[in-house]
Amino acid sequence: MTKPTQKDLISANRKDIHIDLAKSDASKSLRPHPLDLITLPHNALPELDFSEIDTTYKFLNTRLAFPFMITGMTGGTMRGDKLNLAFAEVANQCKVALGVGSQRSSIAHNRSQSELRRLAPKIPLIGNIGGVQLAQKNGLDLAKAAIDDLEADALAIHLNPLQEIIQPEGDRNWRGVLNAIEKAVGNLPCPVLVKEVGAGISLPVAKKLQNVGVNHIDVACAAGTSWARIEAERLPENKRNIYAPFLDWGHLITDVLPEIRHSLKNVTLIGSGGLRDGLDLAKLLWLGCHMGGSASFLLKALETEDLNIQQEHLQNSIETLREQLTIALFLTGQRTPIFKNGATGIL
Ligand SMILES: Cc1cc2nc3c(=O)[nH]c(=O)nc-3n(C[C@H](O)[C@H](O)[C@H](O)COP(=O)(O)O)c2cc1C
Repeated sequence: MTKPTQKDLISANRKDIHIDLAKSDASKSLRPHPLDLITLPHNALPELDFSEIDTTYKFLNTRLAFPFMITGMTGGTMRGDKLNLAFAEVANQCKVALGVGSQRSSIAHNRSQSELRRLAPKIPLIGNIGGVQLAQKNGLDLAKAAIDDLEADALAIHLNPLQEIIQPEGDRNWRGVLNAIEKAVGNLPCPVLVKEVGAGISLPVAKKLQNVGVNHIDVACAAGTSWARIEAERLPENKRNIYAPFLDWGHLITDVLPEIRHSLKNVTLIGSGGLRDGLDLAKLLWLGCHMGGSASFLLKALETEDLNIQQEHLQNSIETLREQLTIALFLTGQRTPIFKNGATGIL
């Protein structure tokens, strides 16, 4: 293992500050939630027995209880590791997929997260590193180490240019990231999933990703956690002004998702960014996502304000999501979470 650099040290401390800010109202996008504009078509004649609704969905060779993943958040600090262990146990019980937060710091500090695989043998575990880190020297080695440590089923590469621009210690050189992703696709032993962190992925970017072999994309759009707001909170008052116009920058899922789904075949699309309940999840599926994902909503469900872990509460929240999805499927006359007549009309 290489010695942690100054940047690695900053990034470990930063993680816990990010968790606190993500749990506070300071992180909330002020954009109106686009899913509030969608009313799913009610079916007064569902011709279904509620008990026959099958919410299961196959993702990365595993049948999940429903098409849902906890998207990457934590790891690499004592608090982050504790949260991840709890996420792993609950995700395994609920049979949903789990992503971890950036592994750059945990790998640099030799803090293995291999325990997660033991706690979650039945679900897909998804590793995580940044696109910029992947494009740097030894990026591919970092990616391999991240996969090895978790015995990951896929590696998420996060794209976060908005966050990096506002972060005082952020990476501003975004040259070579697509090329690095292409190399990763060709050289890693598992699928690569590319994700944003709340500013969304447009059709032209999704096409570029598919052209280099990426088959899993989490669009992570605006309206949920705003990383611009989180990073701006960390700045001294007199430095915030410059970023004020960008605090709610980003694509809304209703704008980008249907056209991505129409244009790209054979890409698994994960919809996320501000998911609040199982009806939101049903709306994402109706828009054309194959799966939904959520981060801060579940973090708040798991960790109390005084930092106690409440696994049961997280489990209830995930089970409620599934139950609400099932109700939405019943009321739209759908036996499975694959919408035959969704917004895209091609599902
Ligand atoms: C505390 C916290 C830490 C996060 N850290 C990461 C990370 O390390 N890597 C990553 O890809 N995404 C990270 N994310 C982004 C989430 O995976 C997700 O894309 C984003 O928060 C939007 O989802 P949400 O609105 O449901 O929170 C983090 C989110 C939170 C709340």
